[in-house]
Amino acid sequence: MRVTTRLVLAIWITALAVVAGFAYLQVSDERQRLRQELERRASLLGEGLQDGVEAALSRNSRPALERLLKRFGRPGQRLAVYDTKASLVALAPESFVPRPETASDVTAAITSGSVQQVFRQMSGRTFYVYVMPVPREEKPLGAVAVVLDASYLAEAEQAVWRENGIRFLVLGAILSLIALLVVRMSITGPMAKITRWTKAVRRGQHLEPMKLGDPSLFGPITREVSVLARSLQRARAAAEEEAALRLKGETLWTEERLKQFVKLRLGEAPLFVVSNREPVSHVWKDGRIVARRPASGLVTAMEPVMRACGGVWTAQASGDADRETTDAGGHLGVPADDPRYQVRRVWLSKEEEDGYYYGFANEGLWPLCHIVHTRPQFRPADWAQYRAVNERFAEAVLEEIQHTESPLVLIQDYHFALLPALIKAQRPDARTAIFWHIPWPNFEAFSICPWQEDLLRGMLGADLIGFHTQYYCNNFLETVERVVEARIDRENFSVNRGSHTTSVKPFPISVAPTFVDDPPKTSREELLAELGISAEFVGVGVERLDYTKGIPERFLAIGRLFERFPEYRERLVFVQLAAPSRSTIRRYQELEAEVETTVQMVNRAFQTRRWRPIVYLKGHHEHRDIWPFYRHADFCMVTSLHDGMNLVAKEFISVRDDEDGALILSQFAGASSELRDALLVNPYDIDGVADAIRAAVAMPPEERRARMARMRQTVREHNIYRWAGLLLNDLSRIPEEGTATLTATTPGRASDEEAA
Ligand code: G6P
Repeated sequence: MRVTTRLVLAIWITALAVVAGFAYLQVSDERQRLRQELERRASLLGEGLQDGVEAALSRNSRPALERLLKRFGRPGQRLAVYDTKASLVALAPESFVPRPETASDVTAAITSGSVQQVFRQMSGRTFYVYVMPVPREEKPLGAVAVVLDASYLAEAEQAVWRENGIRFLVLGAILSLIALLVVRMSITGPMAKITRWTKAVRRGQHLEPMKLGDPSLFGPITREVSVLARSLQRARAAAEEEAALRLKGETLWTEERLKQFVKLRLGEAPLFVVSNREPVSHVWKDGRIVARRPASGLVTAMEPVMRACGGVWTAQASGDADRETTDAGGHLGVPADDPRYQVRRVWLSKEEEDGYYYGFANEGLWPLCHIVHTRPQFRPADWAQYRAVNERFAEAVLEEIQHTESPLVLIQDYHFALLPALIKAQRPDARTAIFWHIPWPNFEAFSICPWQEDLLRGMLGADLIGFHTQYYCNNFLETVERVVEARIDRENFSVNRGSHTTSVKPFPISVAPTFVDDPPKTSREELLAELGISAEFVGVGVERLDYTKGIPERFLAIGRLFERFPEYRERLVFVQLAAPSRSTIRRYQELEAEVETTVQMVNRAFQTRRWRPIVYLKGHHEHRDIWPFYRHADFCMVTSLHDGMNLVAKEFISVRDDEDGALILSQFAGASSELRDALLVNPYDIDGVADAIRAAVAMPPEERRARMARMRQTVREHNIYRWAGLLLNDLSRIPEEGTATLTATTPGRASDEEAA
């Protein structure tokens, strides 16, 4: 039976039961009321007759009785007087013929001395018979019978049933109609929508995530179906991409290829990643917990790798709702709706975070490695916290890898220079790599760090050390040569200490080919309208507020552009997206103030009533929010004073599927050695940068597109999956410590083909 039929049937049965129940009660009440009324009428009549009947009976005067009865007679009521022997003495009207049974009622009334009442059928109608004894001085004289027509009682009952029958029909019909409408709107309608949506996905249409009205009812199923659809779309896209690549004979690294490669090399063993920054933090916002993806180059790069490979990513908990979203062991599955890997959160105390993260890592190592003339601070207390936190992370990682044989551990960045040696000391079988996401300065610059040797020894615990460029590798090897007792093998780019070998190699990091899975549909017009600007040319900058990014210098160059080329006033707007970062450090506070002052200064100098040169958007921006800026800008500025790689440059390129847009790139960013089609600038040269902006907007479209196409090709080929594939390939080929026959050979560089 169909669900709607069942529902309607249930409604009718319920309505019937309810209405019938109420009708029954109503009929009983009505019957009682009418009977009481009959009784009252009959007893009134009887009492009215009593004295007259008594007098006439005692005189034995039939004519007096007949007169009396005639006087009381009314249409619809019959009266009769009986003597003590229950013989009829008088009646009214004359046509009235009492039923023979009435005599026995009379006898009963006389002998009992009490009123008798009974309903009788006469000539097809119902009558109410009321017999009242008439005594005199307590001796029975006879009786009066009052007979009233009671047929209307049954009619009244029928009317009540009829009325309720109609009520039942109307109620049943209305309720059924409402139920059908509700079912249609809330169940069959959404189900049909889900079906249509799923069918469209099956046919290969790319759709927005499904949204249905009532999340309490369909929320879980729509979420599951959407996740399923996304997986299907991903699998289909991966298969199509693979097929296309095979046809073209290309050996491009894709998410699918990395997945297969890792399976081949690691089997079912998970990959272990450690970084300070977590890929997702949870924060309280307006009484709700929201997930945030931090503005971090490291996260941009590593997240797609973990999605492809699976595994455990250990990182510092940084959101105020992080505890609420993890299990007792500090784990959570990411992404939440379709977990592909685990995050293990480590909580630090304020003192630990201040000393290790803000202090040693970001006031010491960060300015030490970025040559931007900010003096590094080396405080013994910070160094002590740095060591202690490295030990705490080592414990967490050792816990995670305890059940995995020869695990692959990828340590990220300058926060964990000591971690490789700490892990190796406990688990020599672990194959450990550390990737340094920031520049490595030359020996002289590095040598100002009082703990340089400890740092190097910690790093050299790794089997593989990765930098973005060969230049940083060279700097590192030179530093090691000068500071640590070790044999440098320049031919194989490795460091040998005792029986341990560490390979040092460049792995230029990159981004995933897709910046966001489902980019918003915002058009350029909509974006500009949202910002309240109208301009012929739009430039964009996307950064953390960091003094290495050269943001004030960039704004000065924008000012210089309008000064030297006034024809661009009111025609060009620069939008800066700036995420506050490391804000408790004084240098960062100063920078924030400097950036704001520079924006105001440039805007004040050139703005008009309807235009201002710089739109400064300070705050956290999710990838989906950044996408329209990248996609619709005429040019993007990445003018870091010094930068390990800089992934903003590559993100901008990856988003430009229209193969348009110019990139202005600092020659001091690692990315500049790969992206030769960018307009390369010295960020300190304000005039030179102003010229580059002019060149970007004045460039012939064909040239701009050709440059972008070439850069897209580079980013497409040298994507993050290739980066991870090559790094993991090298790492997985490193023989386990102690396997003597193999340690003699240092792993050579695998080609893409070999790795794939
Ligand atoms: C640099 C580092 C990254 C880090 C990023 C954000 O780019 O190389 O490893 O992710 O800064 O810094 P934060 O301190 O916010 O993690």
